[in-house]
Amino acid sequence: MKFGYFDDRNREYVITQPDTPLPWINYLGCQVYFGIISNTAGGYSFYRDARLRRLTRYRYNNAPFDLGGRYVYLRDRESGQFWSPSWQPTRRELENYSCRHGMGYTVIGSTLGGIEAHTRYFVPLDENLEVWQLTVTNRRATKAQISAFSSIEFCLWDAQDDATNFQRNFNTGQVEVEQGVIYHKTEYRERRDHFAYFACSEPLAGFDTQREAFLGRYRGWDSPAAVQAGQLTNSIAHGWAPMGAHQVNLDLAPGETRQIVFLLGYHENPVDQKFDPPGSQTINKKLVKPTIAKYLNPLEADAAFERLRQYWDSLLGIFQVSTPDIHTDRMVNIWNAYQCMATFNMSRSASFYESGIGRGLGFRDSNQDLLGFVHMAPARARERILDLAATQLPTGGAYHQYQPLTKRGNNDIGGGFNDDPHWLIVGVSAYLKETGDWSILDEPVPYDNEPGSEQPLYNHLQRSFSYTLARLGPHGLPLIGRADWNDCLNLNCFSDTPGQSFQTTTNKDGKVAESVFIAGLFVHAGRELAAIASRRGLAAEASHYIGETEKMLAVIREYGWDGEWFLRAYDDFGAKIGSKDCDEGKIFIESNGFCVLAGIGLEDGTALKAMDATREHLATKHGIVVQQPAYSRYYLNLGEISSYPPGYKENAGIFCHVNPWVMIGEARLGRGDAAHDYYSRINPSAREEIGELHRCEPYVYAQMIAGKDAPTFGEAKNSWLTGTAAWNYYAIAQWILGIRTTLDGLQIAPVIPGNWPGFTATRIFRGVTYKISIERQGEGNRIALTVDGKPIEGNIVAPPADGRKEVTIKGILS
Ligand code: GLC
Ligand code: GLC
Repeated sequence: MKFGYFDDRNREYVITQPDTPLPWINYLGCQVYFGIISNTAGGYSFYRDARLRRLTRYRYNNAPFDLGGRYVYLRDRESGQFWSPSWQPTRRELENYSCRHGMGYTVIGSTLGGIEAHTRYFVPLDENLEVWQLTVTNRRATKAQISAFSSIEFCLWDAQDDATNFQRNFNTGQVEVEQGVIYHKTEYRERRDHFAYFACSEPLAGFDTQREAFLGRYRGWDSPAAVQAGQLTNSIAHGWAPMGAHQVNLDLAPGETRQIVFLLGYHENPVDQKFDPPGSQTINKKLVKPTIAKYLNPLEADAAFERLRQYWDSLLGIFQVSTPDIHTDRMVNIWNAYQCMATFNMSRSASFYESGIGRGLGFRDSNQDLLGFVHMAPARARERILDLAATQLPTGGAYHQYQPLTKRGNNDIGGGFNDDPHWLIVGVSAYLKETGDWSILDEPVPYDNEPGSEQPLYNHLQRSFSYTLARLGPHGLPLIGRADWNDCLNLNCFSDTPGQSFQTTTNKDGKVAESVFIAGLFVHAGRELAAIASRRGLAAEASHYIGETEKMLAVIREYGWDGEWFLRAYDDFGAKIGSKDCDEGKIFIESNGFCVLAGIGLEDGTALKAMDATREHLATKHGIVVQQPAYSRYYLNLGEISSYPPGYKENAGIFCHVNPWVMIGEARLGRGDAAHDYYSRINPSAREEIGELHRCEPYVYAQMIAGKDAPTFGEAKNSWLTGTAAWNYYAIAQWILGIRTTLDGLQIAPVIPGNWPGFTATRIFRGVTYKISIERQGEGNRIALTVDGKPIEGNIVAPPADGRKEVTIKGILS
C-alpha cells in the first residue's frame, strides 16, 4: 500500500494520507539554521547545534508519536469550528490533504468546509530564520470569516536541560512583544547574546506567549482553549512555558485568497549592543528588524524560495542519470543526493530517531558521509575534513565524536574505536579524487585541537596508518579496540551491569581481540594512501604503504579466511567470530563486503567465494543481514550485538549501510545483475508499494530493515541519518553505473544489469560537463570509449588539456 506518490518533475514526494505508518519527515535549512518537519507539521528548529541552540520544543517518543510542531489552526468565526490544515494536532477529518516534501521545503495543506489552506515552510539561503507562508482561499459561494492562528512552543535553548531541569526552567522564561513580534529571550539577561523571534505579516487580533493561557488548563495542542474561544489572550510569559501564537482575522469574499507570512528566527547581538537603551533589560532589536521586515514581505519570501530552488537545481545538476530503472533515476537524481546533503548537515544528530541531544558528529560516520556529498559541496567537504582531522589524537587515533558548536572531541565517549582513523584516509582520498585540490594536504591542522600542535593534514593521514601498525594483535591482525565499524561488536567490554555503555566500558586490556574488517579497511586505506604518496613524489613512502598492505594481505589469507568466507574477528580469548566453527554468528557481512570492496581475493577466487557465501547465507528479499545465525542470547564476550533480539539492528538486522559494500563487491566481480538486484532490494522507492510493511519514508534510506529472524521482517527503522545514504549513492554512481572519480580523471567502468540496453548521464567534474552515453552491445563489462568522437585507450578520461568545458563520452559495453 502507498501513502502518496513521487512527483519527480517537481522533485517532491506527495503524501496524500496524513496518518502514515510513522511520521514522514523532511529537513528545512541547509547551512546553519535547520528544522525537522513531519508530514503533519510536527518537528522542531535549531541553530547550528540541535542540542545547545534548540529554538522550539519537541516531545520525543510521544503518543501520538509526533507532537510539537509548527502548528497553524483555522477557525470559522460563524460556526465556531476549528481545525489544523496539517491534520495534526486537531486531527479533524480533512478533504484533499497533501504534504509535499521537496528540496529544502515542505508544503502542507487541505480543505475543510470550503476553506482551502496551505502552508509552505522553508529556510531562505544565508538567513537564520524560517518562513511559513500560509495561503487561505475561500472556495465557498458565500463570504467566510476565518481566524488564522500560528503556534510554536519555545525551547529554553539547551534541549537536554529543557527536558529535565524544571526546578530552574519554570522560573527563567522571558519574552518581549513589540509591534506584534514575539521575542523569546530566556537567559538573555545573563550570558546569552541570542534570542528567537516569531513574527507575522498581518495586523494581529491577538497573541499569546504563555502556553497555559493558550492551551487552557488540562488541555493539549489538539484543542487549545484560546483557539476554541476564538480569541487569543495577549498573555506574557513569566517563567513556565513561553510560546508564540498570533491571531489574524480574515474576511474572505468567495474565491478570495489571502497570504499570511510567519517568520521564526534566531538572532545574535554583539555583546556590547545587547540592550536598547544601553543599561536597560530590553533587547536591542535594531539589528534584526530589517531582516524581519524583509521576509514578512511575501514578494521577498517568494524570491527567497526561488533562490532555494535554484540552489538545489545546481547541486543536483552535478550528476543526473537516465537509466531503464525509474527507482535508480529517482534516487540518484533527487532523493539519495538530497539525503546525502542531510547526513552531511546533521551527521547523526537530529532526526525522529536521533534526539539531537545525544550524538555529535561521528568521526567514522562523517568521513564516510563525504563519499556522498563531496561532489555537491567540495568547499564544505574541505572544511569538514579539516574539522574532523583537528579532533584526531596525537596517537593517530580519534575522538569517536565531536560537538559541532565547539568542534571539540567528545570526552564522554573518547577514542579507541580502532577503525576510526582509516576513514579519514578514505574521506580525504574521495575529496582529492573529486576536486584535484592537493593543497588540502598541506593545510596545518592541530591534534586534539591543541594550539601549537599543527601539522600538515598529510601528517594526519600518516599517523592514521601507523596507528594500526602500532596496534596489531596475536595473529598480526589489527586490534579491534572498543569496536570497529560495528559499534556493537564489543570484544573488550564484558559488561554485566545493566545500563552500562557498551561503547565506553572496557574491562579487558584490548591486546587480544582482532578485527578482520579493520584489516580489510587497512588494506583499502593503505592503497589509497600509497597512491596519494606517490603523486606527492614520495616513492619510498608509497612503497612502505604497499609493503605493509601486502603483509596484511598475507595475514588475512592465513588467519582471516575461513574456507568459504572471510572471518569476522577474534575475541578476547583468541576464539574465532564469524566462522563455520561458531554456533551462532558464523558469517558476517562486514568483513566479506569490505574485503571484496577493497579488491582482496579477486585474483585467487576467495572474493568470488565470499560473495557467493554472502548470497547463500545472508541475502534476503529485503536486503542482506549483518550475520547468521542471529545471536539467540546475550554473550558477555561479544557485547551489544547480542543485546538486540534476533533480526534487529546489528544482531542480524539488514543494516542498509553495509549492503552497498556487497554491491560494490559484486560489481568488482563483474556481476552487474547481482549488484543492481541488491541495490533494488533496499532502494526505498522500489519499496514504496510495500509501505505498510516498510513503514518509513519511501524517499530516503533507513538505517535498518528488520532481518529474517525478526517477527517484523521487512520493517524499516531509523530513517534519514545513516551512512546508508552515502554508500548507496557511491555504489550506484561509481560502481554500478561506474562513473568513478580517480586521481587521474573520470573513469567510466559500468557494471550494469545484463538486460539494460545502456544509460545516459551528465556529470560535472572539476568544472567540466561530461555528457556520457553507454550502449550495451554484448553481455560483458568490457568498455570501449570515445571522447568527443575519438577513441581512447583505457577507461579513464583525463581532464581536457585545451580547457574545453563540455566533453562527450560514448561507451560501448561488450
Ligand atoms: C551506526 C553508527 C555507525 C556504525 C553503525 C554500525 O550507524 O552511526 O558509526 O558504524 O551504527 O554499528
Ligand atoms: C547503538 C546502535 C548502533 C549505534 C550506536 C551508537 O549501539 O545499535 O547502531 O552505532 O548505538 O553509539
